[in-house]
Amino acid sequence: MKSLPQPDCRTHSDLWKRCGRCLHALLLSMFFVGAIGAAQAQQPQAVFATKGMVASAEALASQVGVDILKAGGNAVDSAVAVGFAMAVTFPRAGNLGGGGFMLVRMAGAAASVAIDYREKAPLAATSTMFLDAAGAVDKDLSRFRHTSVGVPGTVAGLLLAHRRFGRLPRAAVLAPAIALAENGFAMPAALAESLQGRRQRFARWPATMAVIFKADGTAYRAGELFRQPDLAAVLKRIAAAGHAGFYSGTTAALIAADMRRHGGLITQVDLAAYQAVIRPVISGSYRGYQIEAMPPPSSGGVHLVQMLNMLTPFPIADWGHNQAPTIHLMVEVMRRAYADRSQHLGDPDFWSVPVAGLTDRRYAARLIGNIDLQKATPSDSLQPGRPQAYESPETTHYSIIDAAGNAVSNTYTLNFRYGTGIVAAGTGIFLNNEMDDFSAKPGSPNAYGLLGGAANAIAAEKRPLSSMTPTIVSRDGAAVLATGSPGGSRIITSVLQMILNVIDHRMDIATATGAPRFHHQWWPDHIRYEAGLDEAVKTALRQRGHTLKKVKALGSLHTVMRVKHGFLGFSDRRRSRGQAIGVDD
Ligand code: DON
Repeated sequence: MKSLPQPDCRTHSDLWKRCGRCLHALLLSMFFVGAIGAAQAQQPQAVFATKGMVASAEALASQVGVDILKAGGNAVDSAVAVGFAMAVTFPRAGNLGGGGFMLVRMAGAAASVAIDYREKAPLAATSTMFLDAAGAVDKDLSRFRHTSVGVPGTVAGLLLAHRRFGRLPRAAVLAPAIALAENGFAMPAALAESLQGRRQRFARWPATMAVIFKADGTAYRAGELFRQPDLAAVLKRIAAAGHAGFYSGTTAALIAADMRRHGGLITQVDLAAYQAVIRPVISGSYRGYQIEAMPPPSSGGVHLVQMLNMLTPFPIADWGHNQAPTIHLMVEVMRRAYADRSQHLGDPDFWSVPVAGLTDRRYAARLIGNIDLQKATPSDSLQPGRPQAYESPETTHYSIIDAAGNAVSNTYTLNFRYGTGIVAAGTGIFLNNEMDDFSAKPGSPNAYGLLGGAANAIAAEKRPLSSMTPTIVSRDGAAVLATGSPGGSRIITSVLQMILNVIDHRMDIATATGAPRFHHQWWPDHIRYEAGLDEAVKTALRQRGHTLKKVKALGSLHTVMRVKHGFLGFSDRRRSRGQAIGVDD
């Protein structure tokens, strides 16, 4: 088995100072910059460090993660601190009022541990709660109202991870978030622009306006101090009382009161009942590497492993990256996996998900049996498969690895950017709209165009199906790569392409992240692709019967990787001012 691509002087600028050969290359490249052009000169490169790495979508939060590692915390302490900090510095997806999934692989452990802190439907939720009198789905109710909010899981999940694996005291991992909320931070230009861009959506909610705009209603300008005292108070209650600091007492009472005032369903009973859950990780293998990812209620791990199983028999590396035969095969594989998703995936506490069948290599072999390598399979001729036969035997992601090799891969979300756009009065907490991830009505797509049925129907205390795919790739029992992405339904295929780019196409993580991506999800029956795909490849795909649709960006990967003498980190440039920051001596 080959090893993963190692850092070299062409791809990792930090190594230049260690390598005379590369200094020569640097001088040469500086000489040619004018001729090559600015774009290539600015080609982003992975960050290298010897003592640990944090890659997130937000620079202040990455720095918090690094500071915690330097203070003697492990990767989990760092991940918990980043999770709380992003609720302050990256409110479009970082959150206390949402949910997510964390995968932890402690050095020396036999397997990763999967922590499910997905939101739950409140006790009063019903399967028809988003249908109007005519039986049509009312999208305002499922996306932008207090009824759209699932019982938040983030605080429970982060605290569970910390209790189980953390080394530093709880107060220490909450301190950076408290300081950022209480003392404030310089409003980043991107955040100022993002908040101002949604003023109309927020205007409906005075409590939201009070948090993100100044008292006179004007917007913070880039560089102005942005303080969030209500949020700081909540974080302090969590630091003092742990789980109870959020799920009971003042915080819970404030959230429940906001719900009561606006026709929402979440009560103090719902909040008091919420618990994060440790679930058996989804595990597969691909070309000698162990792939571990999130089990249901995420569909991510199941379909990632299912797609890798389907791809294993094919010489992807020989066919080449983003070449027509490769894309055609991958699209056919994606189409089949997402067809299965529509029927078989849901909260495992409510629905018997055929996990073993879906991730069985024999099932994958059967599914690829009807792939025509020259011709697209129209999605209307393809139905979800029957894996049961084998049963016998504006989300954000961050990845962290510490000097001991402990790795964390965490994806959490409010669903849309800023979720519902609602801040529960007195808390500074943006509330999610995760209830829209349920199938409100069979055959009626959710915001990501995903179809679902009974498996993902709404029920009290059920978790909506997710596509979030925090993933850890290991070799010989040790984590070598942690990655994940936002992007709704596009998350699973973005992670798939990251893994193939690194393992099959031997790319370093910066190149693997920057390469144009594509996506197919059974319905709608077209390939979404990013700019940069070769014209001849697109023509060849059309000749095979595919419809193509250009889109802006598919996912945003934040990845860390263990290499021979240290760690690499890379934060996708597609969406935000993310940053990978390393720890050195
Ligand atoms: O859980 C899910 O699959 C979605 N709620 C994730 C939403 C998302 O990734 C939004 N980011 N672009």
